[in-house]
Amino acid sequence: MTEIPAPSTFKVKSFGCQMNVYDGERMAEMLTAEGMTVVAEGENADLVVLNTCHIREKAVDKAYSDVGRLTRDDGSRPMIALAGCVAQAEGSEAQRRSKMIDLVVGPQAYHRLPAMVAAVGRGERPVDTDMPAISKFEALPARRKSAPSAFLTVQEGCDKFCTYCVVPYTRGAEISRAFADIVGEAQTLVDGGAREITLLGQNVNAWAGGLDKLIHAIAEIDGLKRIRYTTSHPADMTDELIAAHGEVDKLMPHLHLPVQSGSDVVLKAMNRSHSVESYLRTIKKVRAARPGIAISGDFIVGFPGETDEDFADTLAIVDAVGYASAYSFKYSARPGTPAATMEGAVDPQVMDDRLQRLQARLAEHSLAFNRATIGQDTRILVDRKGRLPGQMIGKSPWLQSIFVETEAAIGTMLDVTVTHALRNSLGGVLRNVEGAA
Ligand code: SAH
Ligand code: SF4
Ligand code: F3S
Repeated sequence: MTEIPAPSTFKVKSFGCQMNVYDGERMAEMLTAEGMTVVAEGENADLVVLNTCHIREKAVDKAYSDVGRLTRDDGSRPMIALAGCVAQAEGSEAQRRSKMIDLVVGPQAYHRLPAMVAAVGRGERPVDTDMPAISKFEALPARRKSAPSAFLTVQEGCDKFCTYCVVPYTRGAEISRAFADIVGEAQTLVDGGAREITLLGQNVNAWAGGLDKLIHAIAEIDGLKRIRYTTSHPADMTDELIAAHGEVDKLMPHLHLPVQSGSDVVLKAMNRSHSVESYLRTIKKVRAARPGIAISGDFIVGFPGETDEDFADTLAIVDAVGYASAYSFKYSARPGTPAATMEGAVDPQVMDDRLQRLQARLAEHSLAFNRATIGQDTRILVDRKGRLPGQMIGKSPWLQSIFVETEAAIGTMLDVTVTHALRNSLGGVLRNVEGAA
């Protein structure tokens, strides 16, 4: 067995949703506060935190193979922490399956990570998948630096129990952070350099105090330019939240509202608690409040019992909504979920075929949405370098990625005119750099 010295460098690798990205950042901040330093991409770290996702099949196998790959050429390995939703689901089983995993920490327990790392140093192999009543947020250190576009978790967990989904089991029951804590963290993020904040939650619009009120409050913060929120459940789109899209200029004209299927029969079997009609009614209200808003969604094809007609209804709702972008997945049976034991499994080839057809249809709509912005003047927040030298990429209000030739730094707002549009990216020419005459 290899000796594991106390770590002085670390790396956190996050998979899955934006909530995991946020958690990964918080874990990194904690380890930094303990005096450890993060290593650059490609470099060896003394401690590797794998912040895993459990949403689809093979997630567990992937996590174990990621662990296995951490063995270095000389046979040594870093200290390994398994975190995230696979950690929650596997618990101590993880250390039975892989001797390399030194500690296992679930998404509601990661504020204890530094103490667990210390315990590993004493020869222990700690596992913590508790979901304590007291929120971990209170135990996290204050935030200091922030990216121009920052995430802020306001709500966690899920009480919806869609029949295909593991999230209610891996993240636990819905909890909402306190208003003052969220506004305080938003202010800290802005003080630390954030210009855009995306409010996060598994069901962010189920935030207990009314997400519209939170958005109005955060919009008051000077220096904050943009607000977004994700992911929303259709059943929690209140009239007040919809109205906020027309009232708050800083709230960007984009809404991610997963529908999953266009068939009421399938939606019912999924326990989605919205119908095709109620969903379309919501979209109509949202568009009335904020004309031109970009709608994105999530889809699952091949849910048990899905017929050709059900699938045709999904294509129909895609056409009815005209999504600006979307994620689409083949149904993946998750052990322990109600759908896993439902009859009517869809043939894998049929699933492949449906996914291809759905993605082709979604691509047409994305392209149409993006092409409609050609010739328009808009503003982007630069968030990364382009592939070519002298090229930068930023997000439009509608969350499109737009390439521009510029030397402007990450975090700059640029006025651009859209000149061309593909399905996933657009090009523009620079009209004005913020701060310039
Ligand atoms: N809370 C969000 C998203 C949860 S997971 C919501 O309710 O929409 C993100 C997406 O993964 C889901 O919207 C769904 O489309 C997909 N997904 C979840 N479980 C799945 C499964 N078992 N098989 C395939 N896709 C799944
Ligand atoms: Fe999963 Fe449904 Fe909850 Fe979303 S609302 S996290 S899909 S159970
Ligand atoms: Fe994955 Fe957990 Fe997010 S399962 S999608 S990392 S809530």
